[in-house]
Amino acid sequence: MPTIDPHGGTLHNLVADEATAGALRDEARNLPKLVVSDRELADLEMLAVGALSPLTGFQGEADYDSILETMHLADGRAWTIPVTLSVDEDGAHRLGGAEAVGLTPAEDAEPLAVVRISELFKRDRAKEARSVFGTEDLAHPGVQALHDAGDRCVAGTLEVIGLPMHDDFLQYRKTPAETRAEFERRGWRTVVGFQTRNPIHRAHEYLQKCALEIVDGLLVHPLVGATKADDVPPDVRMRCYEALFDGYYPKDRAMVSVFPAAMRYAGPKEAIWHAICRKNYGCTHFIVGRDHAGVGDYYGTYEAQEIFERFQPGELGITPLMFEHSFWCNRCEGMASPKTCPHGEEHRVSLSGTKVREMLRNGERPPQEFSRPEVADILIDAMREGGAG
Ligand code: ADX
Ligand code: MG
Repeated sequence: MPTIDPHGGTLHNLVADEATAGALRDEARNLPKLVVSDRELADLEMLAVGALSPLTGFQGEADYDSILETMHLADGRAWTIPVTLSVDEDGAHRLGGAEAVGLTPAEDAEPLAVVRISELFKRDRAKEARSVFGTEDLAHPGVQALHDAGDRCVAGTLEVIGLPMHDDFLQYRKTPAETRAEFERRGWRTVVGFQTRNPIHRAHEYLQKCALEIVDGLLVHPLVGATKADDVPPDVRMRCYEALFDGYYPKDRAMVSVFPAAMRYAGPKEAIWHAICRKNYGCTHFIVGRDHAGVGDYYGTYEAQEIFERFQPGELGITPLMFEHSFWCNRCEGMASPKTCPHGEEHRVSLSGTKVREMLRNGERPPQEFSRPEVADILIDAMREGGAG
C-alpha cells in the first residue's frame, strides 16, 4: 500500500549487511581517516537510512553547481541544499590521491563508513551562502557553519558500516523504511509531516490539528541534529512533545519520531529540502507555516511558502499545506489566523519568543492560550536547571 514514492523512486539503504560490514571494517583500517563534524555526521546518518534519497553519497561539483544555480540536481530532480563532506586544504593534501576514505566521529573512534572518492572540489562559499541562505552575513548561523567547515569537498558514494550511536530517543529513531511500515500498519493512506525545532505551542498544535482534519495521520517529526545554541535542546523538547501527546493528541492518529538532520536555517530552501526528506519518510503532506526554518529577519514571513510555486506541479511529489500566522483570538474564543479571524490585533494573544523566554525564566506560565500548561511547566523546570536556552 505504499502511497507515495521516495524522491527519485528508490528508497536507499546504504547500511551494509553484516558480512560486507566486516569486510569494510577491515578495509577501513588501511584507509586514510577523516573525522567528520556533528553536522556531517547527521548527513551521513540521513544518507545511510535513505532520508536523502536519491542521494547515495556526498555530492560532487556538477550537482553542487546545479543545485545552487537551478534548485535541481544535474539530472534534473528537485534539490535545494548541497550535501557535502568538507575538508580543509591540509586535509585534502593528506588524502593525497586516495580512492577511498574512512569516516569517523572522533580521532580515536572506529570508522563508521567508507566513501569511494570520485572527486575533490573547492566550494564557492560566497555563492553557496547567497544561494542557500540568501545572505553572506556571518551572523547567520548557517553561513557561520559554512564558514567554519573546510572549503574542499570530498565527493563519492557512501558505504556504511554502522549508524552513528545514540543514547537518546531510541524508541523514536525510526528510519524512513520504519515510518513507512508504521503508517501502513496504522492504515494511514495520507500522512502530514510536521517539522519543528521548538517546543510545540498552541499555534503549532493548531496547524497540526487543522491538517489532521483532512488527512489520516500526523507525524510530528522534530529535528534533533545540531541547532543554534539558544534553541531549546531536544531532550527538553521531547518531554514537551510527550506531555502534549499524553494530554491532547489522538494516539491512533498521531505519532512522534525524530528527524536526525542538522538545522540549516535556510528558510525557503530548507522548506523544500524538509518536504522532500519527509516524502522519503512516507509523508504525503507537509506543513509550512510562517517563517519556516527561518532565523532573525533574513527571510520574508511567507517566502518559504512562495518558493513552492517555483517547481512544476507534481515535481516535488509531496503536497505542502500552507498556514498563515496563527494565534488565539479572544473574540473568536479559539485559535485562528488572518484567514479566518476578522478581529483586530488587539484581540490576539501574541507573544514574542523573547517575551516567552523571559516569562519562563521567571517561573511564570505563558497564558494557556499561548502554551499548554503542561508544556509551560516542563520549560520552566528546564530553565531552572539552566537547560532551555
Ligand atoms: S522551524 O523548522 O520552522 O524552524 P518551528 O518549530 O519554528 O521550526 O516551526 C515549525 C513549523 O510551524 C514551521 O512550519 C513554521 O512555519 C510553523 N509555525 C510556527 N509558529 C507558527 C505560527 N504562529 N503560525 C503559523 N505557523 C507557525
Ligand atoms: Mg519558527
